[in-house]
Amino acid sequence: MADLAGKRIVVGVCGGIAAYKAVEVIRHLVDAGAHVIPVMTKGAEHFIGRTTLSALASEPVQMSLWDEASPIPHTKLGQSADLVLVAPATARLLGAYAHGLSNDLMTNVLIATRAPVIVCPAMHTEMWEHQAVQHNIALLASRGVHIVEPEDGRLAGGDSGKGRLASTTAILARVHQVLGSGDLQGAHVVVSAGGTREPIDAVRVIANRSSGKQGYAVAAEAASRGARVSLISTVDLPIPAGVSVIAVETAAEMQKAIEGLWQQTDVMVMCAAVADFRPVSCTSEKIKKEGGIPQIILEPTPDILAGLGAVKRSDQVLVGFAAETSDLVANAQSKLERKNLDLMVANDVSQPGVGFQHDTNAVTFLTPNQPLHLLPLSDKRNVARALLDIVVKIRQSKATS
Ligand code: CTP
Repeated sequence: MADLAGKRIVVGVCGGIAAYKAVEVIRHLVDAGAHVIPVMTKGAEHFIGRTTLSALASEPVQMSLWDEASPIPHTKLGQSADLVLVAPATARLLGAYAHGLSNDLMTNVLIATRAPVIVCPAMHTEMWEHQAVQHNIALLASRGVHIVEPEDGRLAGGDSGKGRLASTTAILARVHQVLGSGDLQGAHVVVSAGGTREPIDAVRVIANRSSGKQGYAVAAEAASRGARVSLISTVDLPIPAGVSVIAVETAAEMQKAIEGLWQQTDVMVMCAAVADFRPVSCTSEKIKKEGGIPQIILEPTPDILAGLGAVKRSDQVLVGFAAETSDLVANAQSKLERKNLDLMVANDVSQPGVGFQHDTNAVTFLTPNQPLHLLPLSDKRNVARALLDIVVKIRQSKATS
């Protein structure tokens, strides 16, 4: 997907243990078609070689105000950039940038540019939490600088805590969002994830084995392609960058959250395993053994997807999942038609490594009046990618018809 074609991105690399991760970020940006101009601070050279950055980027790395033939490289680099990305950004760099102090090429570029700027801080937890650093971050954010916050995890020297450079995926997602370059740019994608839990009494629920991993992968992939993403979730997994989560538990709560967003939804991906039945009533006290074996009377839950299919506008894309254990295609085809879907993703959850709780999935994509499309066992992010490729095509054909 060369969706950054023609974009000039200055990538600044500061001196920190995470400097090596800039290599991967640069490689992805170049693969996406961007023209990447690497800039290193003196400190970065302690962690990564010039040759590595020069070989991977689109131009040789620049480090100094004085090593170009042109006398004004600092203004030239900043003026011609579509984006300046600093990853990793040290406490020193954030401080210098926040206070307008230009003492090397990178701070000169930052102060001279009018292009959007993304900074990705990485440092030890104590430094990250220091008031001075937090003040500088708040100052930069208030001026419109995009901050990709560090993550929790292992740090240099065996420490652990918040301060680790954000993942390459999170950094790239922000680049796409800021440059407005993804193929889902401007779309509001709503994804449901996880299994619903229907209460029986104060402590017991009717649940299912859904892990929510596939829904989270779809949400992460949609955000990385520029969509505004709302994730309606019953599970507590790490929130993908750029995704806002609404936590729910029951089918009724999920229905309310989804229907509340429906008018502003462009694409609805219903990954959740919604319970089909729930207890008619739930006691506020725990049911005690002494009362004998309880009779739990069930009633059907609303079919959220079928409800959306009945009121779908022609510009909205509705995607369902079918978890089957037999007659995969026939069952999925009948749900595709009955629920008025644009795309059905069918998986045979009786197969090893497929669906519930696994990191992998094997699916068959069904669309009205189109041949089946089979995707063999692969990781859930890859399934999400293939799913959204089809969604993008459906949106294109809806826009032209
Ligand atoms: N679904 C829903 N609301 C329900 C049940 C299911 O929105 N009450 C959605 C699921 O999120 C999924 C699709 O419908 O995207 C198909 O779900 P599935 O459980 O495979 O099918 P059901 O329609 O529930 O039929 P059955 O359980 O009999 O196979």
